[in-house]
Amino acid sequence: MAKILIANWKSNPRDIKSAVKLAKAIDGKNVVIAPPFPFLEAIHKVIKKSALGAQNVFWADGPYTGEISADDLKALKVKYVIVGHSERRKNLKETDRMINLKVKEVIKSGLKVVLCVGEPLNIRKRGIKSAKNFVVKQLTKDLIGVGKKSGALLLVAYEPVWSISTEKGSKPDTPEDAVLMIEFIRGWLKKRGLKSAKVIYGGSVNKGNAESFLHKKGIEGALIGGASLRPLEFKKIKSSII
Ligand code: 13P
Repeated sequence: MAKILIANWKSNPRDIKSAVKLAKAIDGKNVVIAPPFPFLEAIHKVIKKSALGAQNVFWADGPYTGEISADDLKALKVKYVIVGHSERRKNLKETDRMINLKVKEVIKSGLKVVLCVGEPLNIRKRGIKSAKNFVVKQLTKDLIGVGKKSGALLLVAYEPVWSISTEKGSKPDTPEDAVLMIEFIRGWLKKRGLKSAKVIYGGSVNKGNAESFLHKKGIEGALIGGASLRPLEFKKIKSSII
């Protein structure tokens, strides 16, 4: 099955012209481009093969100043919505309850949800068993009320917090440990009736290590931050999975 690459641009680039240029450069089949909200419309107009993604959503539609609903995103032709990124959990104090509401709202709108889970460094230091327990707690809470039929709309991104390139002292997970965690997550999802959900890896994926992650059968794609802002590098990552 084709692997998916999701480009999470975070708060980059600075202006619409650069965003359009970058989107054209990384446009491709099985690529999702998740730019900052203000660039969604312009990017939708120039991409030919990629799908459009959003980096966040609100859990309801209505008088919520500053928020964007799943139906707003749908109207902008967004197909994938990232929910529960560790940067939002940490900096915006998003709780599992908030994330659960968002997950359900995205699914209700018929969009695909990219649910990010992953343990912080202090947990991982206690060993892989602690990491598994941590992630199961997140999944259990984040997926409350998500029925079996929603599996096809769900992607889980295993993104250990300590592996994100902008974290102090970060380093990528080893592909072996990433597969271990991902197979564990897949097993949990299956038991929960969500067997069509995909599980991908995120955290310092770059041109040097992409092959070692993406050639692993169990890893169904990657969520890419920094390297998705560098077109040549992103293309190299893409070519490593074809
Ligand atoms: P990096 O690829 O820059 O480590 O970012 C990962 C990430 O946070 C994607 O959501």
